Amino acid sequence: MKLNKSLTDMVAVLGLTVIFGLIATHWELSEHIFEYSHLHESMQLDEWTLSLLVLSIGLAWFSWRRSTEANIEIQERIRSQARVQELLRHNSDLAQRLFTAQEDERRSLARELHDEMGQTCTAIRTEATVLGMGKMDAVGVGECAKRIAQSAQQLSEITRHMLQQLRPFVLDSMGLAEALSALCQQWQTSSGVTCQCEVDALPDTLTDYLCVTVYRLVQEALTNVARHANATRAEVKLQVSKTGEMWLSIQDNGHGTRHTDAFQHGFGLLGMQERVASLKGEFNWHSQPQQGVRIHIKLPMELA
Ligand SMILES: Nc1ncnc2c1ncn2[C@@H]1O[C@H](COP(=O)(O)OP(=O)(O)OP(=O)(O)O)[C@@H](O)[C@H]1O
Ligand SMILES: [Mg+2]
Repeated sequence: MKLNKSLTDMVAVLGLTVIFGLIATHWELSEHIFEYSHLHESMQLDEWTLSLLVLSIGLAWFSWRRSTEANIEIQERIRSQARVQELLRHNSDLAQRLFTAQEDERRSLARELHDEMGQTCTAIRTEATVLGMGKMDAVGVGECAKRIAQSAQQLSEITRHMLQQLRPFVLDSMGLAEALSALCQQWQTSSGVTCQCEVDALPDTLTDYLCVTVYRLVQEALTNVARHANATRAEVKLQVSKTGEMWLSIQDNGHGTRHTDAFQHGFGLLGMQERVASLKGEFNWHSQPQQGVRIHIKLPMELA
């Protein structure tokens, strides 16, 4: 299409040149110009013919340069549009994954509420009804009360677990540094994998969003180590640089990932990447066979 247009333009220019040549031949234009310019030799008019030729060559060169630049710009624009389309597709894909993850979480909370809480409440109610009948002897009443206390204890554990899933309250009560140490300690006990945690002194004025992000990043990374790495040791480091950045690294000594593209196999890594991007940070994930996975994250330190 574009080639056709250029060809038409070229034919038009050549046609015009031939027509002008014929007219010039017919009217002997050069001779007239020569005679006229000869009459005005004092003004050096005859020298202007060649100068105009140079000007036209210059203009042709100028238009060729501009058209090359315009072509490059058009190509760049096409490439950026394709990139925007790809990012939009990626965004809607992520939004879909996010909604699915939200739904999964709600489903798991609902199941926990139904299975655990519902059953425990029913047990308490039944025990209370039997107690209310007043037909038990003292030993029976004692045992019944013990069962009710156990059920209540179970209820409070379930509630604590669910609350922890919804919001890490330790952040409010302890602050980020201690919350991370507690998380590592708790993870070490439950996973049986040694976990070393080193956290620099942190300013008190870190934003809540930054603290929750760091906490969730460590939580997901350690969950992955326990689920996929088969490691015997993990290391969590949070360092603060003088230039106002935070460096978070989580490393394990497991077998590394078995997938060529680990990011396509779940939501965890993608979620981590998105959390870091939302703070305009940098996310580096590196896996080495038999040497484990190393996550290195740079976050700008946001102060409240
Ligand atoms: N520390 C690790 N060691 C070995 N493999 C890992 C590690 N972390 C992640 N992987 C690999 O990367 C994949 C993707 O991890 P990701 O956290 O995104 O998903 P997931 O843990 O499988 O599921 P979820 O969506 O519940 O987090 C995992 O399936 C695992 O194969
Ligand atoms: Mg995961």
